[in-house]
Amino acid sequence: MKFFIDTANLDQIRDAQELGVLDGVTTNPSLMAKEGITGRNNILKHYVDICNIVDGDVSAEVIATDLKGMIKEGEELAELHDQIVVKVPMIRDGVKALKYFSDKGIRTNCTLVFSPGQALLAAKAGATYVSPFIGRLDDISTDGLNLIAEIRLIYDNYGYQTQILAASIRHTMHIIDCAKLGADVMTGPLSAIEGLLKHPLTDIGLAKFLEDYKKGN
Ligand code: E4P
Repeated sequence: MKFFIDTANLDQIRDAQELGVLDGVTTNPSLMAKEGITGRNNILKHYVDICNIVDGDVSAEVIATDLKGMIKEGEELAELHDQIVVKVPMIRDGVKALKYFSDKGIRTNCTLVFSPGQALLAAKAGATYVSPFIGRLDDISTDGLNLIAEIRLIYDNYGYQTQILAASIRHTMHIIDCAKLGADVMTGPLSAIEGLLKHPLTDIGLAKFLEDYKKGN
């Protein structure tokens, strides 16, 4: 399972990279705004800064919602760095853009996916990644994890190569559950990744080992 961090915060990206388990980064316009990154040039520079920290794919989202605009922005983003993956929303022109980019060998991440049908369309259009937002489904009393299971089944039925990128991960158990269901990638906050580290028996066991070592030395 690949681990992506879902943030535009450079310190958190560095922390995750130093942990040695990071495979990539996802961002979105809200995450950029949260870090105070505004204006096209600053946003483009920030993507390059992220690419220079992480070894792996960095999703950069288009803002346009029409085909021509998405193609123009996506090609500009893809030119920035070979780690860039163009993030395209699951809308009518987005599907056309996914197909266009796929035919040109530009990698894509289809975002804002909330149903198996949308995921099927993304795969048929040749998306590299599909991003089902499980946390946002949970927020409206719908089973986000079930969507991961449904997409896994559909993709396996036909051998689609599109990777399932479980997004909108909110906590550590989401990561475990997505791993059990066979998601190819998860993207979440650093806190959810660090939660995987924790077990009280590890802490108790280590304290005892060190205590016993000290007795004999
Ligand atoms: C994915 O690429 C999105 O940036 C992200 O996972 C959305 O998560 P949220 O629902 O916590 O905003």
